[in-house]
Amino acid sequence: MGKTDKKQSPQKPAKAGALDIAEQLGLKPGQSLELLKALHILTREGKLNQDSRRKLKQVYHLYQFIEPLLTELSKDGHAVTLADHGAGKSYLGFILYDLYFKALDQGRIFGIETRAPLVEASQKLATELGFDRMEFLNMSVAESTRADFMPSQFDVVTALHACDTATDDAIAFGLEKQAKAMVLVPCCQAEVAACLRQTKAMSLARTPLAELWRHPIHTREMGSQITNVLRCLYLEACGYQVTVTELVGWEHSMKNELIVARYTGQKKRSAAQRLHQLLAEFGLEGLAGVRYPHLPQTSAV
Ligand SMILES: C[S@@+](CC[C@H](N)C(=O)[O-])C[C@H]1O[C@@H](n2cnc3c(N)ncnc32)[C@H](O)[C@@H]1O
Repeated sequence: MGKTDKKQSPQKPAKAGALDIAEQLGLKPGQSLELLKALHILTREGKLNQDSRRKLKQVYHLYQFIEPLLTELSKDGHAVTLADHGAGKSYLGFILYDLYFKALDQGRIFGIETRAPLVEASQKLATELGFDRMEFLNMSVAESTRADFMPSQFDVVTALHACDTATDDAIAFGLEKQAKAMVLVPCCQAEVAACLRQTKAMSLARTPLAELWRHPIHTREMGSQITNVLRCLYLEACGYQVTVTELVGWEHSMKNELIVARYTGQKKRSAAQRLHQLLAEFGLEGLAGVRYPHLPQTSAV
């Protein structure tokens, strides 16, 4: 009897499920469901793919930071250019195009990625969706900085989890292209950790602070931490105002630091000094010319 009652009770699930998906995804008017299926955020049947949902959450969160920048930078009516480095499957580029660029008749997104199959797949998808102001380049960030067919100026540079030093290369790209804004979520970082490892014995003898990177896991984490601190100082020294926050809750990604840099033209001398001091303190002077070529020499180091 109870079972029969349950069966006969008002049935809402199918509709509620559909509503849930729209709500859970925070779909916006005009947003392409075909795109979300192609990115495997929705299954072919239109159901939510829980694994990809995490990525969408990160991308949406980033969009909240990038959209106001795009709006502000395009106020004068010029066509905004955005370069997304280490694009991968180009979740970020596609969502930005779908939600922002699609409604405009100008503006362009370049996705830069070293893995050829991903670049081909993104180009194909952009063509299928008619996202004709998206371009995908199969090259490294550093190569794209030197490529003479690239625009000489970019408004916004993004790099979402671009591996290792690709984030540094994205910063170098942004500086070269006089980017008005850079939005960076750094990934794993090995370069500084390798330097720390090399000088560990010496540092431990010299300063108790070297305990902070004595154990291998600490070396890796300190390496990442120091790298991001140096990146922020470098951007400030090069005329950017920098904010550092969390991208989304830690349950969504271990690499969760969001660096937003806005060009103001005010080159902070104190940041340059601090950067030099930190490089010296951690025995990283060798990185100065490679990673921070625009860093002015300061006398008070
Ligand atoms: C962790 S994935 C992130 C992809 C994408 N941004 C996302 O968040 O879904 C990093 C991507 O950067 C690419 N990559 C790594 N080093 C690169 C470089 N120097 N230049 C261009 N792409 C690079 C990798 O092939 C990979 O697809």
